[in-house]
Amino acid sequence: MVQLSLIIPTLNEASNIDGLIAAIQRSMSSPELIDLNYEILVVDDNSEDETVPTALAWGESLPVRVIERRGKRDLSASVLEGVDRALGKWIVVMDADGSHPPSALPELVKPLLNNTADLVVGSRHVMGGATVNWPWYRHVTSRLATWMAWPFTEVKDPMSGFFATSKEIIQCLPRSAAGYKILLELLVQGGDQIRIQEIPIQFEDRQHGQSKLTHAQQIIYLKRLMNLGGGRVSKTTAQRFLGVGLIGMVIDLSLFLLLAHWHAGLATAHMASFSVATLFNFSLNHRWSFRGSAHTQDSILKRYARFMVIAIFALLLRGGVLIFLIDSLNWPAWLAILPAIGATTIVNYLGSAFFVFASTESGVIPRVRWHLAALALFVYVFVLRILYLPHLPLLPDEMYYWVYAQHLDLSYLDHPPLVAWLMGASTALMGDHTFAVRAWLLPIVLLGAIFFYRYGETMGGRTVGLLSMLALVSLPFFFLSGLVLTPDAPMIVAWAASLFYLKRLLVDQQSRAFIGLGLAMGLGLLAKYSIALLALGGLVFMALDTQARRWLFKPPLYRAIAIATLIFSPVLWWNSQNGWASFGFQFTRRLAENPDFTSHLVVVYALLLLSPVFATAAFYLFFQRLKRRSEMDRKTLFMLVMTLVPLSVFFMYGLFSVTKFHWTLPAWIALIPLVMQFLMAPYLPNAPRLSAVQHVLARSWAPSLLVLVISYGLLLHYITLGLPGVTRSDWNTAYLSWPELTRETEELAQSIEAETGIYPIVAATDKWGVSAALSYYGGKDLSGNVTAQNILGMSGSMWEFWFDDEQPTTRPILLVHHKAELIEEEWIEDALIEVGPLQSKTLTFNDKPPATLYYRKAMGFRREQVRTPESRPPLP
Ligand code: GDD
Ligand code: MN
Repeated sequence: MVQLSLIIPTLNEASNIDGLIAAIQRSMSSPELIDLNYEILVVDDNSEDETVPTALAWGESLPVRVIERRGKRDLSASVLEGVDRALGKWIVVMDADGSHPPSALPELVKPLLNNTADLVVGSRHVMGGATVNWPWYRHVTSRLATWMAWPFTEVKDPMSGFFATSKEIIQCLPRSAAGYKILLELLVQGGDQIRIQEIPIQFEDRQHGQSKLTHAQQIIYLKRLMNLGGGRVSKTTAQRFLGVGLIGMVIDLSLFLLLAHWHAGLATAHMASFSVATLFNFSLNHRWSFRGSAHTQDSILKRYARFMVIAIFALLLRGGVLIFLIDSLNWPAWLAILPAIGATTIVNYLGSAFFVFASTESGVIPRVRWHLAALALFVYVFVLRILYLPHLPLLPDEMYYWVYAQHLDLSYLDHPPLVAWLMGASTALMGDHTFAVRAWLLPIVLLGAIFFYRYGETMGGRTVGLLSMLALVSLPFFFLSGLVLTPDAPMIVAWAASLFYLKRLLVDQQSRAFIGLGLAMGLGLLAKYSIALLALGGLVFMALDTQARRWLFKPPLYRAIAIATLIFSPVLWWNSQNGWASFGFQFTRRLAENPDFTSHLVVVYALLLLSPVFATAAFYLFFQRLKRRSEMDRKTLFMLVMTLVPLSVFFMYGLFSVTKFHWTLPAWIALIPLVMQFLMAPYLPNAPRLSAVQHVLARSWAPSLLVLVISYGLLLHYITLGLPGVTRSDWNTAYLSWPELTRETEELAQSIEAETGIYPIVAATDKWGVSAALSYYGGKDLSGNVTAQNILGMSGSMWEFWFDDEQPTTRPILLVHHKAELIEEEWIEDALIEVGPLQSKTLTFNDKPPATLYYRKAMGFRREQVRTPESRPPLP
């Protein structure tokens, strides 16, 4: 009885057959396989050479059979036909040209015989595997093809043509499998249920004949990939879609012009023409472009809703392209609209093919579609970021760090130095415009994506990894942290990286992780001190977990601490030189300044920071997992501890003082994979039965994700281009007007200089925000003479260091602010000499609300007589 069938597809392999069969026979008589009954099935696709007679000749001495195919040539179809005719329970598929070493057969078959795997892949890309003698272009195309399969399977070499499995498993494949990549079909369509193992092989290029892998095969591969992802991509759909889109564009444009002609108002015209055109596009695409079997499942309303989502995605991207080309590159509008329409068309087509009219055929795996969705949303939001970033006005915080960068130092009072160093580098290279100030965000976000992915992946595989990366893109405050360059942006990345390496060390017992851990923690500390809370979390985890505890007595942990301390040493040095000022600032001073109770807010904050669906899932998980503590695995324990420890520190801090709401954000990173596993459960293999709550949350996750991403797009559009029907009212008005208010301030300062002969000290009456704006927007004269409320004896953050407020002076002073609050107070007269009356000047604009500059002049300050309500604690 035959147990193993070796299937060898051939097309003109006459010169290779003899050598191959002889080698197979040798390998099959090795001690491991000698007891196995086998047959060799040569499946020939009508070769023009002597392949068939050569193979047939072997049939006399060995169990060799030849299947002669006459129809359309196809490799996968040949393999499937061979499998149908195979007698063995086990199947091996291998090439005829000697590229696949028959000597690897024992290793390839053993896991099947021992029942430790259902599919064994001969892999070039695992340790010990290699490709020998290939020309460079084959390496390139093979790598590209392998990359493209990345969202579909976790196997390292899904392009391999050498594998072993059972007849039963291959026969489950739908007959739609075509082209070269029969293995990929198996991996994708059977991947969740079957156990897969990769063994290393040395792939050698053929000695005789030539490869039949043509361009046509590569196109088939691409199409097959897209179809496996549920995309209904084809020449027909693309052509029809373009045709419909063109007519839609004409409708859009003419309706818009007509409505504008009737004085309908910009907003109405724009919205109306957009909706009519979308409705038109949708109905034609639905009836015609994407007509097919896959329609029946969803209601037409749901499809239209999906179509609207994609249309809005495209619209928001279009806004970004327009503002980028017009404002950054100075293109005229009529020219900029062309690439803008191009970008819209791409989004619309891919969105239609993969989302609105997606195929639901049996080969399409929902989990794989989530992978693609995560990647697509990441790319979409990243492109939005690039386009809109230069046009979002700088926040006061960013301008303050920009001033840091003008006073480069080892550390600063309110923050460690990383953000200043980064801004210093990018502005030195590119100038001081908005994009240069924030440019580091782009690499930071990419690095963040990598570490959110890797952390998620070590917890739950590729799906959880990709969905964790999606969290970085889609949860509100992770999204925002990638939009403005504050210490939080790099710290969040360092936090995720530290979690990843800490998990490697403490849970997986990989001692080499200490290098990554030390680097990540060190750099994180250079960004923001709060990352130190992870160390506390690590300690608690070691206290609870016996296996992790052993690291307390081993060098790697201490090496990590040493690396981190070394990186952090500039901050320690600066503080030792400045009386430990910044540590004092962070701990004692904050506590003293804002006594309050805010602990309960930790919960409220989570809803805002993480969005309601995600946060609710997180809270639900806490209760559910902590109730079933006994059955908790080590990974889950790690995620819970690394979340709860930092959170409880903020909770306790909140008992006495104000926990700022963004502080708690990074604490949630550790939990993301657990939440994602929970929300994705319906799509994951071997998921336990869902509870009712889980069901509701999981169902709401996808819609809430789309709502979130659309609102980010709308926000960007609103801040930069505005939105029809919505006026830009008082969103942070005062700071938006500081470019103009700075100009006014400069004029006032110059008039004082003209009167007195001395350029005044320009002091903004707050801690740092307005002073930062004055420095950033002002010319040299102004920037060189700015300080903050420190001259009134109040805290002026870094201006206490940058401006000598210890010496009383009779230099003229100009107090400014956009609020009268502090300037108008009477006690100011104790602090200043010859203070004039409160004055103001109001500026009006077309596109934003009016802004007022309040100011007061004085002739110097008296350092020692100040009695302020909130007197500055003595500085070292
Ligand atoms: N029956 C049949 N019909 N056999 C075919 C056909 C066909 O249309 N096309 C090719 N073959 C046979 C060849 O005779 C050979 O035995 C085997 O399939 C592989 O074909 P090659 O032409 O040697 O392909 P390759 O070396 O370029 O590609 C190999 O390596 C790739 C690694 O990147 C194959 O193993 C691929 O599957 C693999 O992806
Ligand atoms: Mn070959």
